[in-house]
Amino acid sequence: MQIGAPLGRNSGKLWLNHSPHEARTMTRHWRTRLLHTNAHVPEGFKSLATPVYRGSTVLFDRQADVADQWHADKGYAYGLYGTPTVLELGARVAELEQARHSFVVPGGQAAIALTYLASCKAGSHALVPWNAYGPNREMGEGLLRALNIEVEAYDPMLGSGIGQLIRPNTALIWCESPGSVTMEIQDLPAIVGAAHERGVTVALDNSYAAGVLLDAFAMGVDISIQAITKYIGGHSDVLLGTVSVRDERTYETVGSTWAQLGMAVSPDDCSLALRGLQTLGVRLERLERSALELARWLADRPEIACVLHPALPSCPGHDIWQRDFAGSASIFSIVFEKRYSKSQVASFIDALELFQIGFSWGGVASLAVSFPDLKRPGIDYEGRLVRLNIGLEEVADLRADLEAAFRKL
Ligand SMILES: Cc1ncc(COP(=O)(O)O)c(C=O)c1O
Repeated sequence: MQIGAPLGRNSGKLWLNHSPHEARTMTRHWRTRLLHTNAHVPEGFKSLATPVYRGSTVLFDRQADVADQWHADKGYAYGLYGTPTVLELGARVAELEQARHSFVVPGGQAAIALTYLASCKAGSHALVPWNAYGPNREMGEGLLRALNIEVEAYDPMLGSGIGQLIRPNTALIWCESPGSVTMEIQDLPAIVGAAHERGVTVALDNSYAAGVLLDAFAMGVDISIQAITKYIGGHSDVLLGTVSVRDERTYETVGSTWAQLGMAVSPDDCSLALRGLQTLGVRLERLERSALELARWLADRPEIACVLHPALPSCPGHDIWQRDFAGSASIFSIVFEKRYSKSQVASFIDALELFQIGFSWGGVASLAVSFPDLKRPGIDYEGRLVRLNIGLEEVADLRADLEAAFRKL
């Protein structure tokens, strides 16, 4: 093991070693020694933390070993394709999801983009549920349309009825369960059954389940993506995503697209995500308990017309959640009674002290945000829907915060 040698003449003994090679090193100019060193530190350091390996250039021992390829299982070639820290995060997520491989990408939206670009080509048709994460829908209407890829929105509760929307050029069916904001749970095995009958790839945005509350590959999907930004990151300070693939064929198509797009991530960010994994279990358990307690309490409030939480019967697809999921998470939505206006709901959010206002979810802080223009086919929420992310604060304090804001309504 070598470290950069200190510049001073007597600055420590760790580097004073007198083999012929080292003696030769010491005859070189200090500028050369800045880059080529024989400084040593003791071997044998062990710690509980994964080391952060940074690096763009990867060194080879011999010219004959030089290879330019992205396959991690064939060895390191270039930092773009992952250092050991990045690959460890991918391997840990793949192990949790029981995937063939998990590609680590710069965020959940990058994972969505990679999945589209790996699965579709000019002339393809893709299906996406109308409650999918907003930027996923926007990509369908923007970048993908410009590439002559048609993305059609479908009713997330269609189940096997999706078969009727499949065309000869359908290349990809997206699922997101629960769906963004309105939280519908999809019948994944039914959708997968209809898709696979026609040879269509199914991708799932599995961010809500953190890759552990729902076994995506047991449901039959081909690609499971996660915004690691949410529960695995867990502290709202890192943006990362993964694209996990089921089999060799998908590994090759997603992998070659991933490599061509140059979706590099920071090993420092990956080390934060690896640390997040260590506490994911306790955080999810506590978040589930707190969110459920507040969701049930909110369901009884006279101001609230409906609580959209997968573990409550008022959530569309609740029975499917009971069948397929191992638990619920921290995020859910509430819909105010019709007598409240958009501006009253906005003032309710402003009146909250512990709940802060902001997008994203899965961190340790409670958040509230409304979606003033949210519409679903046949429903205009008219600004009466508020999404809550429950954090690790004491539930009694969060309830008191909500109660005080209700009083001000
Ligand atoms: C369901 C879902 N998927 C993907 C993303 C995108 O993740 P990121 O913010 O890491 O790009 C989000 C972000 O809010 C999300 O809610």
